[in-house]
Amino acid sequence: MCVLTTAAAVGAVGCKEERPASVGISPEAMVALEADAVLPDSLSAGRAHFERFCHECHGKAATGSEKGPPLVHRVYRPGHHADPAFFLAPLQGVRAHHWRFGDMPAVEGITRDQVAAIVAYVRWLQRQAGIF
Ligand code: HEC
Repeated sequence: MCVLTTAAAVGAVGCKEERPASVGISPEAMVALEADAVLPDSLSAGRAHFERFCHECHGKAATGSEKGPPLVHRVYRPGHHADPAFFLAPLQGVRAHHWRFGDMPAVEGITRDQVAAIVAYVRWLQRQAGIF
């Protein structure tokens, strides 16, 4: 299986896929784009929930951190990780399989409606990045 990593040095060993090449936009550019793009009002709740529940590991504008992968990444496009995967992850947790960050624990206290709002926000980010 292809193990992805954000660290180029390690990535060279395991997999050809590295974050900037896969996304076509650097994390820094993505954060700037998110800040500049006019977020539709309907997504502001999703962003707030993301910042509360997911940001710690998935990073600003879902560009990843040292604790978790970017969700603005080709591997998480709808055709590869459809919305049901996005519901299962926070509600049930994820066993590490794509990256080297370890398991994702279930997110305590989150509701399906909050996840739905987060999914809409993350899909919007992915579209801004030209992933789909
Ligand atoms: C404590 C850190 C942490 C938090 C908080 C966290 N995640 Fe994750 N998440 C991870 C890690 C690590 C992975 C990668 C697992 C792997 O190797 O595939 C991951 C993977 C995922 C995946 C991919 C699931 C799959 O089927 O491969 C989705 C979707 C996801 N996270 C969504 C979320 C959302 C939405 C939130 C907030 C509600 C969130 N995560 C909060 C650490 C976290």
